[in-house]
Amino acid sequence: MIYLDNGATSFPKLRGMVRAMEECLLTYCGNPGRSGHYMSMRTGEEVYKVRKQIGSLIGARNPERIIFTKNTTEALNLGLKGVVKGGDHVITSSMEHNSVLRPLKALEKKGVSHSIIRAGTDGTVNPLDVEKAIRPNTRLIVITAASNVTGTKMPLAELAGIARKRGILFMVDGAQGVGNMMLDVNKIGIDIFAAPGHKGLLGPQGTGFLYVRPNLELEFLTEGGTGTDSKSRLQPKDFPDGYEAGTINSPSIIGLGVGTSFVEKIGPEVIGIFEEELITYLEEDLYNMNFIRVYGPKPKKKTGITLFNMDGVGPEELTDTLGKEYGIAVRGGFHCAGLAHKTIGTWNSGAVRVSVGPFNRKKDMKYLVDALWKIYRN
Ligand code: ALA
Repeated sequence: MIYLDNGATSFPKLRGMVRAMEECLLTYCGNPGRSGHYMSMRTGEEVYKVRKQIGSLIGARNPERIIFTKNTTEALNLGLKGVVKGGDHVITSSMEHNSVLRPLKALEKKGVSHSIIRAGTDGTVNPLDVEKAIRPNTRLIVITAASNVTGTKMPLAELAGIARKRGILFMVDGAQGVGNMMLDVNKIGIDIFAAPGHKGLLGPQGTGFLYVRPNLELEFLTEGGTGTDSKSRLQPKDFPDGYEAGTINSPSIIGLGVGTSFVEKIGPEVIGIFEEELITYLEEDLYNMNFIRVYGPKPKKKTGITLFNMDGVGPEELTDTLGKEYGIAVRGGFHCAGLAHKTIGTWNSGAVRVSVGPFNRKKDMKYLVDALWKIYRN
């Protein structure tokens, strides 16, 4: 297949990653932090190396503040539910994924209110609109680094500045930005950062993480065994163990280390430029096809995503035809972000999303364009 669905998960996976996971599973995979024997210790050391690697990639000085989760959704839930309490107010945008909007809706039952700032039709959020929505009880601003629907990059530095000036926490959903954007939590001023392991960091599914800046208290999402303080009925407030109750996904985290090394070597910004070139190349053709409508901003202002519709063919049908007849994998529909589609004007139809990764080539874009011409002519 020509895989153009990296926004959902990256593909192909690195052979080195598979080998590292296989080596772990076949030769030493003990339960980290639970026993003192070689296998447990070795697994713990390998997991710690990945924690350090991720810390260094996102500019977090203390790797202990990186909590491994099963995906970004779990990380976002932990971050949101861990810092806000009844009476607090949260500001977010209309471009968010349901993994932000649904927890916020659920938090209403606990007395947490929120405001959703409507983005422009290309998905751009105006920092002034966010600032205007601040109330005396605003505790948190949470925003995506880049929309999973249009790829639109958000004004993170400006929003972080506003949050800092007003004494509000700033949280970022890095689902589409980690691995292809400069997302240094210290340089930008991010207090809480949630991200996947299996997208831009090229790791296996079932991996994600939450970074929480030092000295910020976090409530638990899950209580249970931590391998420490076993005689206590109380969950230890230790980072990261207290927040990783139960056995973690060590083989996948170790695999994630290999994906992260690849990204570190090339550099997220270089990968971002490469992906921008690919969609620029694609969109130059799409703009000359008068039966195609492209949504979102120009490539410079977004990650490697192109969202479009074709006249006379619904996005689900087009996605299906591309997959079945041309072997092209894209994602059509609403991308778990209905409000984002409402914002850009595709609430009724949905749209087709192409999302490129570091292993795509210009010939993949060419192949897609040829397929679109053929489908339209037929
Ligand atoms: N959130 C992922 C996507 O945008 C799955 O496709």
